[in-house]
Amino acid sequence: MLKHILIVDDDKLSRETLARFLAEHYQCQTAADGREALQIVEGGEIDIILADLMMPGMNGLKMLEETGKMAEPPMVVMITGHGTVESAVAAMKMGAYDYVTKPVNLDRLLLLLEKALETRRLRQENILLRNKLHERYSPTRMIGDSPIMQKIVGQLARIADTSTTVLIEGESGTGKELIANYIHFNSSRASGPFIKINCAAFVDNLLESELFGHERGAFTGAVTAKKGRFELADGGTLFLDEIGDLPATAQASLLRFLQEKTFERVGGTKTLKVDIRLLSATNQNLEEMVTKGGFREDLFYRLCVVRIKTPALRQRQEDIPLLVDHFLNHYSEIHNRPITGLNRTARDFLECHPWPGNVRELMSCLECMVVSAVRPQLALEDIPEHLRRLSAPSEDCPSETSDGILARNEKQLIAAALQQTRMNKVAAAKMLGIGLRTLYRKIDKWGL
Ligand SMILES: Nc1ncnc2c1ncn2[C@@H]1O[C@H](COP(=O)(O)OP(=O)(O)OP(=O)(O)O)[C@@H](O)[C@H]1O
Ligand SMILES: [Mg+2]
Repeated sequence: MLKHILIVDDDKLSRETLARFLAEHYQCQTAADGREALQIVEGGEIDIILADLMMPGMNGLKMLEETGKMAEPPMVVMITGHGTVESAVAAMKMGAYDYVTKPVNLDRLLLLLEKALETRRLRQENILLRNKLHERYSPTRMIGDSPIMQKIVGQLARIADTSTTVLIEGESGTGKELIANYIHFNSSRASGPFIKINCAAFVDNLLESELFGHERGAFTGAVTAKKGRFELADGGTLFLDEIGDLPATAQASLLRFLQEKTFERVGGTKTLKVDIRLLSATNQNLEEMVTKGGFREDLFYRLCVVRIKTPALRQRQEDIPLLVDHFLNHYSEIHNRPITGLNRTARDFLECHPWPGNVRELMSCLECMVVSAVRPQLALEDIPEHLRRLSAPSEDCPSETSDGILARNEKQLIAAALQQTRMNKVAAAKMLGIGLRTLYRKIDKWGL
């Protein structure tokens, strides 16, 4: 297909001579000034503009400024007379591809145009690839077709485009934030702001001011007034991460917001109203916290109008092959490594490992394997050593009878839970869903 060139020159003879010459190679159109040129460019067909710098009406530079605002601007080559090379250089700084001086050497011009077209092709290809990559690895892409994931995706599809408050619960690394992203970007608020805050990252009174903003002079250090996340999220979604760490005072203010949809900035008297959808997430057991008095019951019920539990990876082991392939491709692409796949033993290992750190841990493991790989096909020895050590068959179960496998898995799970909770036995027991005394017995039994 012939490429389209637009020749812009106020001098009729010049533009027509050029057009006649270039017509042998390209589809040519002409315009007498920048304004006329822009109208033609808006049609979307032009690949290159060949424009005179000096023109009455809209000159070349002004035209360049306008095309620069377009989503996919054509390449611009400037034609300049003697003594105006400086302006041509200025044009290049503004984004012109190159310039030619009058009288135009036609052979050189042809070469230059071909180079410009090649650059344009590469740029377009680059944009296309980037979009594809973005689609494939977008922050809302959820991998997994196990029944448990299918159920979650179905539930998300039903609730995403409503304004209901959603509580997302699950262990660390299971995709709670991913789900929050998914809900926002699949709702009619997608074009509005998506504001996140980690409630565990601020001390009490700072958190209040982060959430609700503050007025000037509200406290020492408040030299200017500041909007809080509630105001910033107006028209969009507010995601309160680690909601279990919300201190009592903030719990009260949040409850009031959920009941009345209003709040005040810290140190402020004006009552503010915003339109937001609230999502929250936690890896703690909020119900238990309610029973023990650490979390307000009335707030809990307001937050969990819809409740989504993200499964631990070990509860959906059938999704591991999909996740492994997805992240292998992803990391090979971003680190530019020619990885062809995994051999059977490595694959078996990854599929049977308990992954206490869930998808996040699996991702780090694969990234590490991809960047440190010595051959295109990854093998067991490419798996980080600390993981292999954790899973190695021990002397307690030398033969892999089904009892042996069960025992090995039990030992691995306990070791993993202890590792993840940094030897906090109460937390590890909770994570494993067993009593503290049982845990101590098993630690003894396995010599952990
Ligand atoms: N089903 C999934 N498909 C693809 N990627 C996933 C999936 N689940 C989680 N991930 C990825 O795993 C990583 C951890 O997920 P995320 O941050 O959402 O976990 P989290 O539950 O919020 O963890 P934490 O409690 O530690 O904050 C992210 O990079 C996320 O994109
Ligand atoms: Mg998170």
